[in-house]
Amino acid sequence: MTKIKELHGISHDKGKEIISLKDVTFSYNGSPVLKDVSLSVAKGDFLAILGPNGSAKSTLLKVMLGLLVPQAGEVRIFGEKPAQFGEWNRIGYVSQQAANINTSFPATVEEVVSSGYYTGLGRFFDGARRKAASKAALEALKISDLSKRLIGQLSGGQRQKVFLARALVRRPEVLFLDEPTTGIDAASLQEFYSLISELHGQDMTIVMVTHDIASAVKMATKIVYMMDGKATLYEDTGNFLEIFTSKTLERGGMANAHD
Ligand SMILES: Nc1ncnc2c1ncn2[C@@H]1O[C@H](COP(=O)(O)OP(=O)(O)OP(=O)(O)O)[C@@H](O)[C@H]1O
Ligand SMILES: [Mg+2]
Repeated sequence: MTKIKELHGISHDKGKEIISLKDVTFSYNGSPVLKDVSLSVAKGDFLAILGPNGSAKSTLLKVMLGLLVPQAGEVRIFGEKPAQFGEWNRIGYVSQQAANINTSFPATVEEVVSSGYYTGLGRFFDGARRKAASKAALEALKISDLSKRLIGQLSGGQRQKVFLARALVRRPEVLFLDEPTTGIDAASLQEFYSLISELHGQDMTIVMVTHDIASAVKMATKIVYMMDGKATLYEDTGNFLEIFTSKTLERGGMANAHD
């Protein structure tokens, strides 16, 4: 992973708040799926978001990214209201749908990855830099050999890596990943996790939705568990399983303990 250093923005402000939610309530068609959620992500965090299917993990991510506007509460992105925030190149996002895009779309891997660079004025002037950044992202994910292939001819796991490369090409300070390991095989999974850990080690802030509790416990610095519209923060990830399991037992069930 020699090119990793080229893939993240420079940061000298560890601990500074990147995203904050205060008393956020969000509803689709009148029924709330997030209820009075407050949380914050600071520079250098690795936040893992866990919870059963339908517990609003993806919704939470979209609210944090300003893609969904809550009916109540406050969202701040790098200290600004989402509507006022303009530096989207500081943020990388791989959505849960990335692996399921229209596979008949006639674009090569190289084109998809370098399209991640199209932000702000730079797109008109930055041809050489865009090329170098795309090349570095493809190399970091070990998919340079796929660069001329059509996106529709890739496997789900290969496509997932392409979309991660596309998010990294912006050299973001914070990377949002929504179930990024779906479709990735066991061998690639370890590589994928070491890449994410390495990016985090290089000061990239990570927010990752996952069903992989074991990896979340190992890698994350904070865990948020979503359930019934509420977000519970566990700052001691080492003890997460113990605390979580005893809480679940207190509530009288283990149904979601292994979700
Ligand atoms: N666009 C939408 N319109 C209406 N309801 C929606 C919409 N998107 C999600 N929902 C509902 O909101 C709830 C939360 O969905 P969300 O996708 O955020 O859950 P999730 O925790 O990410 O689930 P998963 O683990 O399956 O990805 C679900 O009940 C879902 O059916
Ligand atoms: Mg989801």
